[in-house]
Amino acid sequence: MKTVVITGSARGFGLCQAKKFKELGCNVVISDINEANLEKALAELNKIKPDTTKAIKVKADVTSYNDLENLWNIAKEEFNNVDIWINNAGVNSPDKPVYELSEKEISFILDIDLKGAILGSKIAFKGMKEQSFGQIYNVEGYGSNDAMMTGLTLYGTTKRAITYFTLSLAKEAHEVTNDKVKVCRLTPGIMITEFITSANGGSTHIELPEKTKKVYNILGDYPEVIADYCVPRMLKNEKNNYNVVWLSNARAFRRFLFAGFNKRDFFK
Ligand SMILES: NC(=O)c1ccc[n+]([C@@H]2O[C@H](COP(=O)([O-])OP(=O)(O)OC[C@H]3O[C@@H](n4cnc5c(N)ncnc54)[C@H](O)[C@@H]3O)[C@@H](O)[C@H]2O)c1
Repeated sequence: MKTVVITGSARGFGLCQAKKFKELGCNVVISDINEANLEKALAELNKIKPDTTKAIKVKADVTSYNDLENLWNIAKEEFNNVDIWINNAGVNSPDKPVYELSEKEISFILDIDLKGAILGSKIAFKGMKEQSFGQIYNVEGYGSNDAMMTGLTLYGTTKRAITYFTLSLAKEAHEVTNDKVKVCRLTPGIMITEFITSANGGSTHIELPEKTKKVYNILGDYPEVIADYCVPRMLKNEKNNYNVVWLSNARAFRRFLFAGFNKRDFFK
């Protein structure tokens, strides 16, 4: 039985992944900075395969090294090993050009989206090297493929860096663990979650322009759909430097090709 740890998993894509992992027979450790959501999420997870799998929750702020180390230690104590660790916690940019961002807003995004994933990867890598196995996943996003847009510069910077970091860490995993530790990427595309309309920890609402909504209606999906696709592939994966891609160029091309028939409206 596999054990999966997911940061930022009290809602959204993280929680959907946790549910799918549990459905497929894994133990899951959910963690988040939001305790109330964590409590609700655990109650939902406890309804899935309660006789054969277990879920626990650990409050952890990904900007805190101690919190992440504690998360690793609790997962190990409870389940003996960690098979998959997903650095999923993330926040959006508040849709402003960089010159309008406060220093606080800049640090908030960099600390969670970039430093958080780096700290999580470091801690999981060290532990998995000791176990002699395990997979680490980092979540790509807007900017990972060099796309640029005013308002998303900082978020895109972190996701571009996450891609580089993950590729380079996979090389380290090859050289220092002979691929026993696998460092991989998740490329979910556009997900219809609270993330797309909120920033600064929920205190800033982002009003999406009609043009953006149109694109989201064509390319976007609910996180459940994407988790259903990604989770079985993560469980099956045996390769280092693997990338689980939902929104591939081919899928995006097909979506635009048939956009005229698309009746989806996520924003009704
Ligand atoms: N929604 C999208 O369109 C989209 C697209 C590509 C990639 N992503 C990425 O997917 C991941 C999940 O996004 P989502 O859409 O589910 O977002 P979400 O906002 O629904 O969930 C993110 C979770 O992270 C938690 N979090 C925030 N700061 C934290 C911190 N300091 N420590 C621990 N947890 C913290 C939040 O409380 C929340 O539960 C993020 O890395 C995001 O960048 C999202």
